[in-house]
Amino acid sequence: MNNSNIPVIAVDGPSASGKGTVAQLVADALGFSYLDSGALYRVVAFAAKQDDIAWSDAEAVATCAKTLDIQFKNDQVYLNGNDISEQIRTEEMGQGASQVAVHAPLRAALVDLQHHFRKAPGLVADGRDMGTVIFPDAELKIFLTASTPTRAERRYKQLIGKSLPANYDDILLDLQERDARDKGRASAPLMMAADAMLLETDHLTITEAVNTILKNYEHKKLNKKS
Ligand code: C5P
Repeated sequence: MNNSNIPVIAVDGPSASGKGTVAQLVADALGFSYLDSGALYRVVAFAAKQDDIAWSDAEAVATCAKTLDIQFKNDQVYLNGNDISEQIRTEEMGQGASQVAVHAPLRAALVDLQHHFRKAPGLVADGRDMGTVIFPDAELKIFLTASTPTRAERRYKQLIGKSLPANYDDILLDLQERDARDKGRASAPLMMAADAMLLETDHLTITEAVNTILKNYEHKKLNKKS
């Protein structure tokens, strides 16, 4: 199936930059589908742990991923028919996801699955390599980021808001560790695509970030027509 004419907005950036919330709202505003690619790596980390597979074992993790039935329905994530949305959102699975995500065979195993999210009228895809590797022909590429202390504070407030245990210093260290791993890996490292727009959100509200993306998307569409 050639779906290259279906528009994609790629939203990449580091952990806790707020890109998930922003990308989902952009998708809602445009009536587009939404791909949370980080959830895929989290599901794989979860399934590997269940099967006693070490996150460091590249081949075993990739083989395990190929057997999984992963479904997204109404903002929930299902693994082999079971709703695991809550279980994959823990800090442990965030760490696990970032460890399995370094493996090239696993990244290759997840490519087709991600391409299948490209459906009319369009897709907003959020992750680390959406604009660089998975959808290099995306209509609009955004690199959404914020300083590490801002991101740590946001994550801290998010956890406290959910009455979950949170320690600011631990969160800061965890983010620094994850950033270093995501940027330093050989396979699809986190980086800004050459044709991406940088969106720094330290001093932006969620609404402002969403509106900036929507405005830029409209510009792209108008320029394409003219
Ligand atoms: O976005 P989220 O924090 O849920 O992603 C979890 C981890 O999955 C990230 O820290 C990153 O290592 C990995 N990931 C990735 N490529 C993506 C999305 C996420 O390597 N496209």
